[in-house]
Amino acid sequence: MAILLSGGGSNMVRLIESMTGDHPARPVLVLSNDPDAGGLAKARALGVETAAISHKAFKGDRPGFEAALSVPLAAARPDIICLAGFMRVLTADFVRQWQGRMLNIHPSLLPKYRGLNTHARAIEAGDAEAGCTVHEVTAELDDGPILGQARVPIQPGDSAESLAARVLAQEHCLYPAVLRRFAAGDRRPILLP
Ligand code: GRF
Repeated sequence: MAILLSGGGSNMVRLIESMTGDHPARPVLVLSNDPDAGGLAKARALGVETAAISHKAFKGDRPGFEAALSVPLAAARPDIICLAGFMRVLTADFVRQWQGRMLNIHPSLLPKYRGLNTHARAIEAGDAEAGCTVHEVTAELDDGPILGQARVPIQPGDSAESLAARVLAQEHCLYPAVLRRFAAGDRRPILLP
């Protein structure tokens, strides 16, 4: 499988560390739109091949950016793509090429709070709980069949940062669990805790 990221890559590390022993998948590539993404060095330290295609060279040309992304992907030939903090919106064409084989993790209990600033929005709304969702990627942003969810209570006095830290800890449990099941061909959702 290949992992696409834009940032520090803590989910990527957990995914890679999970793929040992009888796990049906192995990592073949970590790919970023940001050559300076912290996750790239972490992936290399874990012995996984990396590549970076800066989206900045493709301003206003998403198909061009995706064609460039597809070069290292075609060389690595993954069966599954996991988006893990990949902060670029993909075109419907690219999504269609990988549909049924591409997963994403989103830090909210979808269908609530698609897009950005999910933790602040959940606190602002007075929600009792937040969480994270792993879903199949479809052409609609943060949509697609849900493969797993983990719930995280919102505590009195929570800030977006404190809540995000607790949600991230749950992301680290949920994403590897969903990937293992998905790679074995099982799409039944996993509900944590
Ligand atoms: C995670 O919260 C993920 O849900 C969101 O971006 C963050 C990525 O964190 N889409 P990391 O790079 O995996 O540490």
